[in-house]
Amino acid sequence: MDTLTVHGGNPLSGRIAVRGAKNLVPKAMVAALLGDSPSRLRNVPAVSDVDVASGLLELHGVSVSAGAEDGELVLDPSQVEQADVAEVNAHAGSSRIPILLCGPLLHRLGRAFIPDLGGCRIGDRPIDFHLEALRQFGAVIEKAPDGLHLSAPHGLRGTKLSLPFPSVGATEQVLLTAVTAQGTTELRNAAVEPEILDLIAVLQKMGAIISVHTDRVFRIQGVERLRGFVHRALPDRIEAASWASAALATGGNIDVLGAKQGDLTTFLNVFRTVGGEFDVHDAGIRFWHPGGPLHSLALETDVHPGFMTDWQQPLAVALTQATGLSILHETVYENRFGFTEALVSMGAVIQLYPECLGATPCRFGQRNFLHSAVISGPTKLQGADLTIPDLRGGFSYLIAALTAHGTSTVRGVDLINRGYENFEDKLSALGASIS
Ligand code: EPZ
Repeated sequence: MDTLTVHGGNPLSGRIAVRGAKNLVPKAMVAALLGDSPSRLRNVPAVSDVDVASGLLELHGVSVSAGAEDGELVLDPSQVEQADVAEVNAHAGSSRIPILLCGPLLHRLGRAFIPDLGGCRIGDRPIDFHLEALRQFGAVIEKAPDGLHLSAPHGLRGTKLSLPFPSVGATEQVLLTAVTAQGTTELRNAAVEPEILDLIAVLQKMGAIISVHTDRVFRIQGVERLRGFVHRALPDRIEAASWASAALATGGNIDVLGAKQGDLTTFLNVFRTVGGEFDVHDAGIRFWHPGGPLHSLALETDVHPGFMTDWQQPLAVALTQATGLSILHETVYENRFGFTEALVSMGAVIQLYPECLGATPCRFGQRNFLHSAVISGPTKLQGADLTIPDLRGGFSYLIAALTAHGTSTVRGVDLINRGYENFEDKLSALGASIS
């Protein structure tokens, strides 16, 4: 069923567990392509982005099977082959993973194909950094009606690159290409998200030589061959923070098993500043609303170690319940406040601005992108009919419906399965009234 009926007003309370990060697992699965023996990836969540990555890899001859342990995948790349363009295209529009296959496929097969990419509509999401990097490694890129065709007539050679913005995807592109390129690659202005460092751990287990220096500089020494890895994916810090925001907005108390303090430092500081409480324990972190008013704040999203852009939407719902004016400045994506329209239809008071309402002017300033929001609270939310726009916006709608008085109908919940494992069972386990 792609529609959920939510009866709001119950504080969410109880214990749930988060597994491997949606933003690492598919990338580690792609890395398996580079190995000359099978890989074992553990702590894999049952989310649809993993299914898409499995399907894409199988199209390229990788066998993907369940391992002995629950949440374990075995990836065998020994039969890698060129995939049929039409079949790859059938996967188009569902994910951004295809672009990360370029480096490994160019190494293994000398050719690669990129269909039109999908992912959430939270901005234009161009791939210019990726293509520029691949060209610098020596790839030749031909644009065709069905997509981009890549080749590497002289193989791929190490190079010096500097990213215009510390893009997660472009950094992963460089890592997955440089590890078996001839010579050394130096990458400047790299992304250093925990998911990036976990991917580096995967590649190092395979035999790669990657050094991480201060000031976002990576040096990668290309090697002849890589072997398969055995790796447990880091926990999903976005899912953990989403449940924490749900506890705050609904006045609840949620113990999130698997949540890791080190990956959530900035979020925890903000959570406490707003008035939430948390307790870090060996198995995870318990988040709760201690009662009393929540506090408004001024917040800017940023690349790691700043406040992550994917934490913004779920927390915004809690800020509708805070006393005073909260100011959010979104600096990573130019169009990530579309979801506030529905919150306003539920009774929230939110105004959007094109100005950079934060300490640091960003790339989107003075360009007519409504990338700053002012939230005035507390306001009473009323149940409404909601249609999910994107993954994180979707989860924030669930939080809003659970916080609201009355009943909401939430359509398109399948999209939430892309990044939140068994979220309906977890909601029921936390006492949510859903049907
Ligand atoms: C990853 O997206 C995540 N997705 C995103 O999570 C996350 O929001 C983002 O990193 C930032 O942390 C996955 O890992 C699958 P970027 P990615 O390249 O790699 C611009 C979620 O909900 N840019 O760091 O696509 C881009 O437009 C998703 O879990 C270029 O201009 O993000 C954006 O403004 C949403 N040209 C900024 O950089 C390029 O070639 C950051 O993008 C590449 C990026």
